[in-house]
Amino acid sequence: MKSLILSFSNNLVNEDSFIPNKIGLTFSCVDVCEKLLKELDYEVEHICMNKKNIKKCNACGKRGWGICGDEHICVQNDDFNVIYKYMDNFDLYIFITPVYFHEMSESAKTFFDRLKRCDAFNNNSYIKGKNIVCIACAGGSGSGTEETLKSFDTLNYFLKTKMAGRIPMTKFNFEEQKEVIKDCLSKIVN
Ligand SMILES: Cc1cc2nc3c(=O)[nH]c(=O)nc-3n(C[C@H](O)[C@H](O)[C@H](O)COP(=O)(O)O)c2cc1C
Repeated sequence: MKSLILSFSNNLVNEDSFIPNKIGLTFSCVDVCEKLLKELDYEVEHICMNKKNIKKCNACGKRGWGICGDEHICVQNDDFNVIYKYMDNFDLYIFITPVYFHEMSESAKTFFDRLKRCDAFNNNSYIKGKNIVCIACAGGSGSGTEETLKSFDTLNYFLKTKMAGRIPMTKFNFEEQKEVIKDCLSKIVN
């Protein structure tokens, strides 16, 4: 089985962090997921989406629809189509975003806006029916994790995926939530 982790943070090093490995919370969650998935015999790939060139949806075309609605591809020539096509190869997707202003990060919103456009009405979608696990990484208060996870619920609805885990994460609950990730991934496998 193959899993794909898409992460949406730039913060590889966080000197203020008091979690043991001193890297950002999003990247810490990537590490945790990679390790657990490998233990469960998954092949794992991770794409740091902030390193990719993905522009905003331009809502091109008539009545707000471009060719994405019918052809399930975007007219823009950046990294989006490559990654969307590449998602064909996986059985499980893990989406990990920081929480900014009570929402998913800008890079996450930009990518998922375009994914919804191309995939929501795609009868031949290869994402449809597959498990997704969504992790919202917030600052200490955790404010905005629920709003972020609600946006993932909406994404799940339109992509017709299976929401296998919606996990709020902060620096303060990191250790406990690692166990929640572990339970969630184990249940998907069994
Ligand atoms: C622009 C910005 C907005 C933020 N908004 C929130 C917020 O609404 N709620 C919250 O709990 N933390 C917020 N934070 C804190 C981040 O969620 C927190 O630092 C998290 O660890 C970011 O993930 P990272 O460690 O991968 O960078 C914000 C941080 C930034 C930079």
